[in-house]
Amino acid sequence: MLIRRSPGIPPSEVTPKHLYLNRRSFLAGLPLAGAAFAAGSARAGTKLNGIAKSPFSTTEKVTPSNDVTHYNNYYEFGTGKEQPAGLAQKLKTSPWTVKVEGAVNKPQVFDIDAIMKMAPLEERIYRHRCVERWSIVVPWIGFPLNELIKKVEPTAKAKFVAFQTVFDPGIMLSERAAGIQLPYVEGLRMDEAMHPLAILCVGMYGEDLPKQDGAPVRLVVPWKYGFKSIKSIVKIKFVEKQPPTTWNITNAHEYGFYSNVNPEVDHPRWSQASERRLGEFFMRKTLMFNGYGDQVAQLYSGMDLRKYY
Ligand code: MTE
Repeated sequence: MLIRRSPGIPPSEVTPKHLYLNRRSFLAGLPLAGAAFAAGSARAGTKLNGIAKSPFSTTEKVTPSNDVTHYNNYYEFGTGKEQPAGLAQKLKTSPWTVKVEGAVNKPQVFDIDAIMKMAPLEERIYRHRCVERWSIVVPWIGFPLNELIKKVEPTAKAKFVAFQTVFDPGIMLSERAAGIQLPYVEGLRMDEAMHPLAILCVGMYGEDLPKQDGAPVRLVVPWKYGFKSIKSIVKIKFVEKQPPTTWNITNAHEYGFYSNVNPEVDHPRWSQASERRLGEFFMRKTLMFNGYGDQVAQLYSGMDLRKYY
């Protein structure tokens, strides 16, 4: 596979022209088409109330929600960026449980309602940088992953956290068609998972998560390439050894376990020094750790980030 299906086709090849020509400002000049677009963009999400603002939010311009929800990577529901918005609607997100197990004193199965109430929900406006060189700014809604971790009391053996996406072959692409092994799996080192910037995300743009964006609960780790932010989580396991991760299984040469955003370490097939924000025409410089270096760089002090890519 691997080459054809990797998440790594340069965005110049895959970003639909309407996205980098900024669909909204373009349509603003066409009153009738603009009205039709506005009507079509309304989503049937449930509004989330009482969401606190977060000091961790960026003040950068938020990417329009319609762009973020129609340009996705969710390989179980299509390898094209515009497919998940349609195909992921088959996913049944209620009832939903997340099983938390492994090296913990209190293994538990949490219902999604319990997760929604686990900690005060906050809006975190984060930069999100895909390994494929496109980026977005998203007002995610969630709470620090460390809140869930504290509830299950990891033991001294818990060195890493492994995450797993729901798997339903009846509604998802086959592994062969998706080009990846399923279910989708990801992982973090324990100190990364405990970092206050890493969130369990249950909503965006003031509403619960659209299915194509990982409903009902996903991970968001803003200093890492987007593929670490695993969607539609059903299992979280605390383990002693570094767990396997989907893109590393798929192509270890191109995708490492750490996958921190790093403009100085090129992907084997393209530079990572710049990126295109959806809706913008010109590329912009990619920031070390996606601009979160002040908060997270110390997690990696003494590590060779070329080796641990
Ligand atoms: N999670 C699952 N289960 N399946 C996927 O294909 N794609 C990853 C990540 N999480 C993916 C996933 C990749 S490659 C990226 S860039 C982000 O989700 C995209 O998140 P977004 O579609 O909400 O922007």
